[in-house]
Order: sequence, then structure tokens, then C-alpha cells
Amino acid sequence: MRQIIIATHNQHKIDEIQEMVKGKIDIVSIKSLGLNKDIPETGDTLKDNAKQKAEYVYKKFQKDCFADDTGLEVEALDGRPGVYSARYAGEKCSFDDNINLLLSEMEGKINRKACFKTVICLIEDGKEMFFEGKCEGVITTERYGNKGFGYDPVFIPKGYGESFAEMSKEDKNKISHRGIATRKLIEYLLKK
Ligand code: IMP
Repeated sequence: MRQIIIATHNQHKIDEIQEMVKGKIDIVSIKSLGLNKDIPETGDTLKDNAKQKAEYVYKKFQKDCFADDTGLEVEALDGRPGVYSARYAGEKCSFDDNINLLLSEMEGKINRKACFKTVICLIEDGKEMFFEGKCEGVITTERYGNKGFGYDPVFIPKGYGESFAEMSKEDKNKISHRGIATRKLIEYLLKK
């Protein structure tokens, strides 16, 4: 089976992606290769960050790899937290801190529209390629569900009656930003 390194320490992302490529591609974590340090992520766009993370891992191992970067853009907050979604409530903040800040900034806002965007950078034989996915929805006024990660408990995708954190991994993957971008990546990888 083809092996490819995923440039992340986020076990939720690894699980989500492994679920999607079961039996088709062997996803290798950087932790299993002995890389335990945080990967630098200092770009101003999702694309720059995905590229930076993938290049970092490619330089270390010289093996095909990919990295993703995701941001939550909230209309009423002029697109914030966007590329800064991970550090929205400060360096080293928790998922919970980010959600608390988001809910407080959204207090009283009528327009609850938001959108998750993912950019994946694949490096294959030293060449870079990008795959994108997006998922529209709304920000709730309180938390719903305890599955998933990040902002999942406060995001209800468009056309659905439950938050990402109330959905199974399989159902979330069918419609999520990362699911869409990952399917494009997988389609590309399996065509070869
Ligand atoms: P990154 O792509 O790991 O840098 O993610 C940026 C921020 O968005 C982090 O705070 C993540 O927790 C959050 N995030 C990324 N993907 C998802 C998702 O699928 N659902 C909810 N939050 C997410």
C-alpha cells in the first residue's frame, strides 16, 4: 500500500483521514517517525501555512507528505478568526478557550453565518500541489455535542439540524471542509 506522511500532531485529524482512506493508503504520523516538536506555522494565509508545514516535514524525511490548514471565517466578525483560528484566544489556548471567546464575541449578533475552509498542500517527489474544501454553516449560541474537536460543538453545517460535534466521524467527513479537500487529495493519489 502506498505510504504518505501526514504533517500534523492533531490525532483527531489523523483519525478522520485514516477513516477515509482505510485499505487504500497508509497514513503515517510524524509522531511515529519520532517528530514530537510543534511544526512552525507563521503564514498569513491557510495556503502559506499548509505549504510551510508540508515543506518542514518533507525537508526532514524526504518522503511524500501532506499538511492541512483550516480556518473558521465568521461573517459578523469580518472573517475572523480565519487563519488565526488555532490561536484565537491566545498562544497555547485550549479548544474551550476559543469557543468561549467566539460565543462571547457573537453574543447578540443576528448574522450567525460562518464557513470552515481547508487547504491541503501535498508534496510528491518534491512537487507541490494544493487541494481546497469549504463548508458553510452557522455559529450556535451554546455548545451542542461532544464528538469531534475544535469549534465542532458550536458549528451547524448548512442544511443540517445538528452540530459537527453531534455527528459521527463518517457523517462529518461526508460534508466537512477537510473531508472535501481530502477527497480531492485521495482522488488524485489513487489515480496514479
Ligand atoms: P489547524 O488547521 O489545525 O491550524 O486548525 C485551526 C483551528 O481550527 C484549530 O483551533 C482547530 O481546532 C480548528 N479546526 C480545524 N479543523 C476543524 C474542524 O474540522 N472542526 C472544528 N474545528 C476545527
